[in-house]
Amino acid sequence: MNHSSSRSANGNKALLRDYVISPAIFELESEQIFNRHWRYVCRSSEISESSGLYRVDWLNERLFLARGEDGQVRAFRNFCRHRGSELVTAENCNTMGSRIQCPYHAWTYDRSGKLLAAPNMSDANGFDAEQWGLKSVKCEVWHGFVFVHLSDPSERLAEFLAPLESHATGWNFEDLVVAREIDYCVQANWKLIFQNYNECYHCPTVHPALNRLTPFQGATNDIADGPILGGPMLLSDDCQTMSTDGRRVGKYLPGLSEEQQRMVAYYTLFPGLFISPHPDYILLHRMERKATDETRVVCQFLFHPDSISEPGFDPTSAVEFWDLTNQQDWRVCELAQRGICDSSYEPGPYSDLESVVASFDRYYLAQMDRDYHERPPIGFPRSS
Ligand code: FES
Ligand SMILES: [Fe+2]
Repeated sequence: MNHSSSRSANGNKALLRDYVISPAIFELESEQIFNRHWRYVCRSSEISESSGLYRVDWLNERLFLARGEDGQVRAFRNFCRHRGSELVTAENCNTMGSRIQCPYHAWTYDRSGKLLAAPNMSDANGFDAEQWGLKSVKCEVWHGFVFVHLSDPSERLAEFLAPLESHATGWNFEDLVVAREIDYCVQANWKLIFQNYNECYHCPTVHPALNRLTPFQGATNDIADGPILGGPMLLSDDCQTMSTDGRRVGKYLPGLSEEQQRMVAYYTLFPGLFISPHPDYILLHRMERKATDETRVVCQFLFHPDSISEPGFDPTSAVEFWDLTNQQDWRVCELAQRGICDSSYEPGPYSDLESVVASFDRYYLAQMDRDYHERPPIGFPRSS
């Protein structure tokens, strides 16, 4: 929802059509981007020792997360080391206890990934159970946000998120819990959803209600380059938060400065999370690519436990406000997807209000360009 007041100096244009519609580019993004970035999975509070296992289904990358007896959250590849069966299924994820048993030949692992039992394998030549633990995936937690990295990260999660750390002061993210969740399927490329979120040029036309609560002229960007982008928007004088009537639905989040009580902030974390702190709740959008023209977006509303335990706590007016706003956004992203498919589509110029969209494109293209000289990929378009 952000826009910058600075001028976009170099006459940037939108991304070329292939980046939105090409299956080859979509494939390349897995390697260049999604396997090389920290990716948000869920809130730490969604994985408890007693709860089920948390499944992750990212195209061909299937994982599950488990909290061990030591309290640590770990991530594993979701296949058995015997003959590869999926271990944690949609059916068994809530019933598997401290032992994770394969549905095929019953090899059994513990929550730290160790192979505990492999029936009838003792006779197998040189079989050593120690060698056949689950394949683990790098997993770190930042203020209650669980991220994984599918390859060898060049930096720790905290370093990746450092630009946000100073802005996170006061929001006490770790204490917050998910009160509501909405799951959307958007018929648009994931980048169109990022780009749309990074500008408020569309707000007066697409979101009249939102624009009344936070007029688009009150937007600034305090992080304007790199994988994390965004900044605050000021609430109108007569409005307390983003909700259908502009009134707070929970207590102020503890620790906010007076300034933070009068603003909503919007940050996008490349390549799959938006964090939007409000005075009384935090809104999250988590994105999962499904196809060039399909993206799953899971929207979560986080509140402080003190608000949730208040008698009569009811977040409906915030949830309904954002559900309407989301649907307005998904509609224009889907319209853009359809228009860009046209064979004569030509990227148009960005306005001054879209400088952060241009920043997103720059960062995205830099990731896609990495190692380009070593392995020229399939008809990889160059931006003009
Ligand atoms: S595939 Fe898992 S035990 Fe055989
Ligand atoms: Fe929007």
